[in-house]
Amino acid sequence: MKDPKRTIEIKNEVFEVLLTENEIKGRLQDIAQVIRKDMEDQEPVFLCILKGSLFVAADLIRAYGQPCYLEAIRAHSYQGKQSKGVVDLTMTDNVDLRGKTVIIIEDIVETGRTLHAVYHHLRHSSAERVLTFCLLRKPSAAKLPFDIDYVGFDIDQSFVIGYGLDYDEAYRQLPDIYQLKD
Ligand code: IMP
Ligand code: MG
Repeated sequence: MKDPKRTIEIKNEVFEVLLTENEIKGRLQDIAQVIRKDMEDQEPVFLCILKGSLFVAADLIRAYGQPCYLEAIRAHSYQGKQSKGVVDLTMTDNVDLRGKTVIIIEDIVETGRTLHAVYHHLRHSSAERVLTFCLLRKPSAAKLPFDIDYVGFDIDQSFVIGYGLDYDEAYRQLPDIYQLKD
């Protein structure tokens, strides 16, 4: 793995490296171990919230390394650096979740509206158990009315990009996570 650039400049704004690919992958290994223990002999359904969580889902599931399923749901609530408040949800497939343990994978929780909307949708499905994972959690997530089961990192209340996280749909390809410098 290449050493990340310490800072990058986008649209006249400076972003500083916050978490390297190495740090992220190391943390995912630890969480995967906890999930393996929690699952006992169940084969969970990992539900990836598109598009931002694609990268973390791919790495978490491989770190998990046991029989499991992968599904995806499309959630959209963000424009530029601001959440627009309303969350549109589209399940990509008509899946039967009867009796299944579902682990929702979210890249980042800011207001928690997205995760809450997906969680609510799943609680009203036939899934037996619904668990939640997020890679990054901002302090504003404290308003969520339920606890997130697996949290990668607690970060400051600032805008971040890379490792799947976008700025107006761009910069998802950055292997490391960068934070906007204020
Ligand atoms: P929430 O619904 O306010 O919790 O926002 C969650 C969604 O907004 C996440 O799934 C991300 O797609 C996006 N988002 C929130 N904060 C950031 C950020 O700092 N950078 C990029 N996307 C973000
Ligand atoms: Mg997202």
